[in-house]
Amino acid sequence: MRIDIITCLPKLLESPFGDSILKRAQNKGLVEIKVHDLRDFAKNRQKQVDDYAYGGGAGMVLMIEPIADCIEHLKSGRTYDEVIYMSPDGELLNQSLANELSLRKNIIILCGHYKGVDERVRQHYITREISIGDYVLSGGELAAAVLSDAVIRLIPGVLSDETSALTDSFQDGLVAPPVYTRPAEFRGMKVPDVLLSGHEKKIEAWRFEQAVKRTKQRRPGAIGE
Ligand code: ADE
Repeated sequence: MRIDIITCLPKLLESPFGDSILKRAQNKGLVEIKVHDLRDFAKNRQKQVDDYAYGGGAGMVLMIEPIADCIEHLKSGRTYDEVIYMSPDGELLNQSLANELSLRKNIIILCGHYKGVDERVRQHYITREISIGDYVLSGGELAAAVLSDAVIRLIPGVLSDETSALTDSFQDGLVAPPVYTRPAEFRGMKVPDVLLSGHEKKIEAWRFEQAVKRTKQRRPGAIGE
């Protein structure tokens, strides 16, 4: 999979992609992530990529020209399955959307900033708008990192068998059950006996029961009854 991210704050994305699982996924050649500085496509010497909103109002709006040039430049090199715009009013990210996107080959993600992006970009270049939650961030960069992380960890080979994404919360419609590690007792707080029993079937049944219980408590309505 290849992900091209367009942003006017490329530095914000260095750390999320430069560490841990996402870094290893790139080193293994399972995903290629390219961050593009929108200012490289600016039209004037000041490298301006935003301007005042027509009709007035506070906040700057990202201009269509540099974005169109950047997207067209990328499209001249390969075909893209999606051109995603990160926006608080987009469709809400969930596990099933992450699963769906993990099957795509090439994706562009455009990060919004300031008061947003010229509406003509959304109308003519964007195939999908995604939000990571009903709150407003200062820009789309952190949201793009969240989306990329949720998608990349689902690519076969990115996680080892022990940390397989198949046991993640929400993958089977349930949140994950509680987990414990050593010591078996800490200041009187004990690990449930069943987990120390070595009885695989009973452990599996306990985990399922706990996952159902947690899902009912934390996501009421998620399980049909
Ligand atoms: N940009 C600003 N807020 C956002 C959000 N909640 N989701 C996606 N992109 C955003």
